[in-house]
This record gives sequence, C-alpha cells and structure tokens, in this order.
Amino acid sequence: MSARAGDHGRTRQMEVYLAGLRGRRGVVPFDADKLETIGRRRMGREAYAYIAGGAGLESTMAANRAAFERHRIVPRVLRDVSQRDTSVTLFGRTLPTPFLLAPIGALELANREADLAVGKAAAAEGVPLIFSSQASKPMEVVAAAMGDAPRWFQLYWSTSDELVASFVRRAEACGCEAIVVTLDTTMLGWRARDLDLAHLPFAVGKGMAQYTSDPVFTAMLRPEPLERSSRPTPAAVRSLLRAKASYPGGLRANLRSDLPLAAVRQFLATYSRPSLSWADLPQLRELTSLPILLKGILHPDDARSAVGAGIDGIVVSNHGGRQVDGAIASLDALPAVADAVGGRIPILLDSGVRGGADAFKALALGASAVLIGRPYAYGLALAGEQGVREVIRNFAADFDLTLGLAGCTAVSELGPERLESIP
Ligand SMILES: Cc1cc2nc3c(=O)[nH]c(=O)nc-3n(C[C@H](O)[C@H](O)[C@H](O)COP(=O)(O)O)c2cc1C
Repeated sequence: MSARAGDHGRTRQMEVYLAGLRGRRGVVPFDADKLETIGRRRMGREAYAYIAGGAGLESTMAANRAAFERHRIVPRVLRDVSQRDTSVTLFGRTLPTPFLLAPIGALELANREADLAVGKAAAAEGVPLIFSSQASKPMEVVAAAMGDAPRWFQLYWSTSDELVASFVRRAEACGCEAIVVTLDTTMLGWRARDLDLAHLPFAVGKGMAQYTSDPVFTAMLRPEPLERSSRPTPAAVRSLLRAKASYPGGLRANLRSDLPLAAVRQFLATYSRPSLSWADLPQLRELTSLPILLKGILHPDDARSAVGAGIDGIVVSNHGGRQVDGAIASLDALPAVADAVGGRIPILLDSGVRGGADAFKALALGASAVLIGRPYAYGLALAGEQGVREVIRNFAADFDLTLGLAGCTAVSELGPERLESIP
C-alpha cells in the first residue's frame, strides 16, 4: 500500500466487484460480525474463547460498541472529495492510513504462522504492527520478515528488571520504533469463557516466544524433574506434551527435557508486576530513547500524569473489554483524555474498532490513529497472511470512503463538529 493521497477506497471496491464478475469473492467477510462468526469456525473452542472473550459479563465489550453507535457522523456535501489523503504522521513517520495492528498475544491459537503471517501482512500494507510481549514468534523472526516496515514493541512489565531491559534492548535491535507499555494487565482479568474451559494458553507454553527466546529468561530457568508420586491423568499428559511442543525445537527435541515446564512455571511466576507504579517509569526512560506510549489510559488525570512524566504517547484502551468488566468504553473516555492532553502528545485508541466509520469517529474525538484488534486475528484464522492483508485493506478502503462521503478530504479536517451524539 503506497502513500494515501488518491482514490484507493474506490479502487478496492472495484477490485472486489470485478473479481465477483469472475466468480471470486473476498477471502474474508466484509462485515465485522460475519468475520467473527466465520473466523470462529476455523478455530478450536479454547482458541475462540480466548480471542473473542472478555472480562466478567462482557459488559465493557458491549459498551465499546454502544459508544461507537451513540456517535453519528453528520456528512457535508458538494465539497469536491475526488482526492483524499488518509495519511497521518506519528513520531516522525508518515503512515498511509490511521491504522496500526494492536499487540495480540498467543496468535498461534488462530494460525500456526501466527505473528509471522501478521508481520508479513502488515509490512505489505504499510501498517505498523505492535509486537506483543506474549507473541507466538520471537520478535527477531518477525522483524526479519518485515524488511524496514514499521513495528513497535508492547511491553508487559515483568517482576524481573533484567528481563524488562533485555526485551527493550531486543526491541531496539530489531528496529522497533516505539515501546508501548500496557498498564491494564498487571493481573489477568476474570474471563468467564476461559475459566469455564479452564484454559490459559500460557499454561501450555503458548504465547511465550519472546520469553523462551530471551537469554535473561532462559538463564532464570531451573528445570526440576516431574514429581512421579501420583499417576498422571491423560489430560495432564496432553498438557505437558503441548508445553513441550510449543517450546523451541518442538515436541520431539523436548520429549526428555524439563525446560518447557520450567519455562511455563517461570513465566507464570514473573510475567507481570501488580506493584507497578508511576515511580517505575523513569527506569524505562533510562533504558531507551525510543518514544514510550502508555496503553490502557482511561482517566484524564492519568493522561495528565503521563504527560507530566515525559511520556510520548497514550493509547486509550480497555483492552477490548478483557480486563475490567463494567469499565468505561474507550471512545467515551477519549474526549476527556484528549482535553487533558491538549495536543501535547499523540493519542491512539482501541477497543471495539470494527470499521472505517469507527476510526472516523475516534479521530474526530481526538485520536491520531486507532488500533485494529480482534478483526485481524479472525482474518488470520481464516486465511493466514492473506486474511490479515484483506482485513487491513478493507479497513483502509472503508475509512477512505467514509472520509470522502462525509465531505472531508484529509484526516486533519476531523473534529467533534463532524459528529452528533445520541443520548
Ligand atoms: C486475544 C487477545 C490477546 C491480546 N493480547 C494482548 C497483549 O499481548 N498485549 C496487549 O497490550 N494487549 C493485548 N490485547 C489487547 C489488544 O491489544 C487491544 O487492546 C484489543 O484487542 C482491542 O479491542 P478489540 O479487539 O475489541 O478491538 C489482546 C487482545 C486479544 C483479543
């Protein structure tokens, strides 16, 4: 995807309709709900529950969508919208569209190629990918497949400062252009779907590739032989085999190794730090000169503190409703956060973004860009790299057409006056 001044929404539309004349349909559904429904069929029960689910009653997931519904675009007409520019500039880099791919962990649940397929798709479309701390492929592997396409790194702050430093060093070395610290997941939310299935991907070694490829993490491993006191159940054997299969080298190489289980134990003991506070941030600043963003900000006072702490950007997010059930919708939190920030640093938003109109609304309310979350995971489940590419292209085209049809020719024209909010 090249620079974004032009008419690419219509180009994409015509590509789809002309392919239809030859009897070909898009590889992923265009409707967000259908994307999820069809994506679900390609995943196991546990995988779908982990990706689709949210915390508690999932009321925050519903609130995210309701907030987008409550804001309506008020189109203007007769404004020559034949050429449109959907580009935005973030930290000195111009992006073709206001979209980035959110960090999503354990993507091997959707497709074996996981982050590698996503990285290739993001690079091909010129959309930055935010590597997850919980990725299924090491960041170096994905970066190598992306050429010089933009990528950022998302950090879960573990209890080991040495591990944090190692992750940041590796992210810099593989060309990440920003560090996104996720603050809303110092503990896992209470996720009913996963609890019902008693399934956590990390407990079977999935989504741990950044750790098992890390020299600091692997030096911490203390393999202990399994206790043989009681006869293991078939399920316990299966879980153990899954952990061994997920560990570098694969099942065969790890059959006799105690490292995979040691890695799971070590990970569960250290992956997050509930004691994290504002006082820890200067330490990260000392580790890197890359822009630092805080992900999971929903209160204007926290946004003010972030600016005061010299943070470079904010991601307004409730983690797709996966953490605090009943939390405010990201879009509802955005105006007050934007007001508090007063344009001093860029604000990104995610949670519930399902199409071009949602991006339009978030940008109108003060975001500089939005993150695509679950929809690309469903694209990955459906058709690997190609599925993710199509999801990105569909978001981009939908946004471009919405922009023009609303009477705008550039992202800079978006402001709250473009929207009406329905009580
Ligand atoms: C399966 C799954 C795994 C996720 N893993 C991470 C992660 O590793 N790090 C992170 O900061 N956010 C993670 N998120 C949150 C996303 O970055 C993003 O905030 C969220 O998906 C946005 O909501 P949406 O999917 O409803 O659009 C994850 C989300 C999902 C659905």
